[in-house]
Amino acid sequence: MLVLGIESTCDETAAAVVVDGKEVLSNVIASQVDWHKEFGGVVPELASRQHIEAIIPVVMQSLEEAGCQLSDIDVIAAADRPGLMGSLLVGINTAKALAWALGKPYVGVNHLEAHLYAVLMEEHVPTPALGVILSGGHTQIMHIPEFGVYHQISKTVDDAIGEAFDKVAKMLELPYPGGPEIERLAKQGDPTAFQFRAGRVKGQPLAFSFSGLKTAVLYQLRKLETDQKADVAASFQRAAFDDVLKKISLAAKEYECDRILLGGGVTNSRTLRAQFAKQCPHLHPYWPAFGLSLDNGAMIAGLAYHQIT
Ligand code: KG4
Ligand code: ZN
Repeated sequence: MLVLGIESTCDETAAAVVVDGKEVLSNVIASQVDWHKEFGGVVPELASRQHIEAIIPVVMQSLEEAGCQLSDIDVIAAADRPGLMGSLLVGINTAKALAWALGKPYVGVNHLEAHLYAVLMEEHVPTPALGVILSGGHTQIMHIPEFGVYHQISKTVDDAIGEAFDKVAKMLELPYPGGPEIERLAKQGDPTAFQFRAGRVKGQPLAFSFSGLKTAVLYQLRKLETDQKADVAASFQRAAFDDVLKKISLAAKEYECDRILLGGGVTNSRTLRAQFAKQCPHLHPYWPAFGLSLDNGAMIAGLAYHQIT
């Protein structure tokens, strides 16, 4: 079964053709980064307009790279939640219009579930497992008794982790998106130079809070006399990842589950993967392939196949 998957929840316009939920024939991603860079973050109105311009060329390119025609496609899928309303509408309406014109089924899928499904496209993960979403819009831990059933056990009470990276990058005068920039700069810094810590939420030991950490970085930057930006980047990154790993460990203990399925753009960080291996040797992480950790259409097509069969 050939599924065309469309992703437009935020600032990537993406389309992919996937065979039987696993074999990726094409995975085209048109990033809008250059449009949003000058504002230091995603501007929703600009994002929807860019999706409208890019969506048809991206879909056509995904078909061409897959070596197929629109008429060969069996199912058309789009990420239909959660995301920026104007951006979502472009992907959903394009997918529905194509499905209607071709007389093929349309499937709407959850973007966050698709991030976790990205891992399942490459390897088998037994359940029960814990699912962890670390992205620009979400930070969550879920208990997954079986695939398709997700119980949220923790989330952020303020910023998402990727959002904190993007905002701290802006303070450090690094371009958007901030995550990869901070990871690069942090390599030249000392992660113990500053004693940053992510927030604790009263009465909710598993909940996340990154806004205080962000403010601590801002105050530290104001006090700096010498150029210690790399130390700030390294210390912030260490603090953010320490917090995530601590809460994953706590959740694993509480739910007696050592299988941790991870997804979302922040899991593209090699530093996070290394820090996980070092600090949580008792847990078994399942990471998405690097090509599938940032927003993409292949994970949408993969999950849609799983949902329709
Ligand atoms: O999943 P994603 O592509 O989009 C959303 O669904 O939000 O995640 C994008 C986020 C951005 O905030 C970006 O800064 C962050 O992922 N990110 C990283 C890294 N690469 C991307 N954060 C930390 N380290 C990285 N290497
Ligand atoms: Zn995402």
